[in-house]
Amino acid sequence: MKNEKSIEPGLAVIIVGNDPASRVYVNGKKKACAEIGIYSREYALPEETTQQELLDLVQKLNQDPQISGILVQLPLPSHLDETDVIHNIDPSKDVDAFHPFNVGKIMIGDFDFLPCTPAGVMELIAESGIDPAGKECVVVGRSNIVGKPQAMLLLHKNGTVTICHSKTQNLKEVCRRADILVAAVGRANFITADMVKPGAVVIDVGMNRLDNGKLCGDVDFEAVKQVAQAITPVPGGVGPMTITMLMRNTIKAAELQHQK
Ligand code: GUN
Repeated sequence: MKNEKSIEPGLAVIIVGNDPASRVYVNGKKKACAEIGIYSREYALPEETTQQELLDLVQKLNQDPQISGILVQLPLPSHLDETDVIHNIDPSKDVDAFHPFNVGKIMIGDFDFLPCTPAGVMELIAESGIDPAGKECVVVGRSNIVGKPQAMLLLHKNGTVTICHSKTQNLKEVCRRADILVAAVGRANFITADMVKPGAVVIDVGMNRLDNGKLCGDVDFEAVKQVAQAITPVPGGVGPMTITMLMRNTIKAAELQHQK
């Protein structure tokens, strides 16, 4: 009983500069922590923060026993080196699973943390009773945050996985093969109804701000929902799952550190 009580997860969120989308995401993460009783601390650093100042903060948090997870909100301002920052997070506190140590562990299927957005997508698929095994899974987008790890997680579930990107030829035909289509391109309404096989499962990871201020995904939702078997909306689909997976990773990090 004593041991159980003494596990207290804590999340440090670092945001640098004034990116409005990042501010919204960070607020959502802090709110989720507050709702479920995870201690959280925000570090809002000015745009002109230097690489060394940021690395010093990460090092300090690596040593801080109150902090089980460290999240550096991306993108960072262009003068900062994201890769270098990620490499300096202690892998056991890397609740984004962006550190090469954790990326490598995911690759071989022996991981502590999964990246939050792809993990959230897999939960949505599983909870909807859909098994990727043997299915054609097409991921549009090859980012380190979503596309690449998403493909790996679908592969772990025995999907037949294709990753599409800006150089892909016959994109429409490739997408139309998909039983499970994950859109992570970052372009509003990029996936149109003619790119979707009737009865496909369509997961929209896009989060695009239109000129009128409205949020919209990568999928033309109104048209695609007529052909899809299942489809996630934006906002309200993948976004809340990303935050939930961050909470899960933070708790897992605290548990793992407690076992040390
Ligand atoms: N920017 C967009 N998505 C993410 C994410 O999952 N984690 C971090 N740290 N930054 C992001």
